[in-house]
Amino acid sequence: MTTHSITITQPDDWHLHLRDGDILNSVAPFTAKQFQRAIVMPNLVPAVTTVTQAVAYLDRILAAVEGTDFEPLMTLYLTDNTSAEEITAARKSCFIKGVKLYPAGATTNSDEGVTDIRRCYPALEEMQRAGLPLLVHGEVTDSSIDVFDREKVFIDRVLAPLIDTFPELKIVFEHITTADAVDFVLAVGPLIGATVTAHHLIYNRNAMFEGGIRPHHYCLPVLKREKHRQALLKAIASANPKFFLGTDSAPHAKHRKESDCGCAGIFSAPFAIELYATVFEMIDALDKLEAFASYHGPDFYGLPRNNGTITLQKVAHRVPESYPLADQSIVPLMAGQSIPWQLVPAND
Ligand code: DOR
Ligand code: ZN
Repeated sequence: MTTHSITITQPDDWHLHLRDGDILNSVAPFTAKQFQRAIVMPNLVPAVTTVTQAVAYLDRILAAVEGTDFEPLMTLYLTDNTSAEEITAARKSCFIKGVKLYPAGATTNSDEGVTDIRRCYPALEEMQRAGLPLLVHGEVTDSSIDVFDREKVFIDRVLAPLIDTFPELKIVFEHITTADAVDFVLAVGPLIGATVTAHHLIYNRNAMFEGGIRPHHYCLPVLKREKHRQALLKAIASANPKFFLGTDSAPHAKHRKESDCGCAGIFSAPFAIELYATVFEMIDALDKLEAFASYHGPDFYGLPRNNGTITLQKVAHRVPESYPLADQSIVPLMAGQSIPWQLVPAND
């Protein structure tokens, strides 16, 4: 029998970029209409490195989603100089739910990131003590390493030794893209989880070169070979609680993507939950969507599951070619294409 509609516990997005200013105001409502909560990345310019900055950013996000009950879960940006005191302040704040590790130079706005993880040991020690998770962009920045191998090499060079040094530290391996990452997460203890994006589930690396260069399919970590996508699909189909939803929706204006040096980032926020539903249905695992989208994340973070529900119906619809973004425009994932699932608006 074909499923025509599904109702699931309201999901959360455990990895999201909302940006700031006019862009924040343009993109935040897309997330707020689907998700109850989202872990908000701190890679602004300047980066959100202190609790004081995080409070101010939280206020700006709340203003952008006024009239909804969306709850932003804030993060701090780890630097070589993050002090144990700042971590203590973050823990006491109650609204900061994680600390993000960007290896310096790994991706968008990572210049203030970590140059050597050993410099962060005092902060990591305190995070381990406080139970505050480390959220990891898992790629080495060594230019001699092939861009497609940077996640795997990060596991060997940084992540595995880090877990040995801080065995009680909670770690989210963000936006995993390889079979190596899946195997690693499965092999280590329950304190290590991973987010999986919709785009890494839908596309392999051919999508960046289909009939020409496709800047809207460029993100970091970059899309990988088909065998890696298959490993991600197998991981989510397994219903293992270590894997949960994190869109990594990363808005950049159209002209910043369609450029001679285009920005990394895929804007999937407008139809994120519909895209995940499409993937789960494609692998005949629609019954596993709710746990992945709504249970595994809060369980890992030690937060309550949401009380509300959302309903998705099997109604094909076309994704707009673009949306307004402040005084510019932005191209969403699957622009101009049809998606088989549609979110039923909350007050229908
Ligand atoms: O593609 C990406 N875009 N990957 C990241 O890690 C950062 C993000 C962004 O902020 O644009
Ligand atoms: Zn991200």
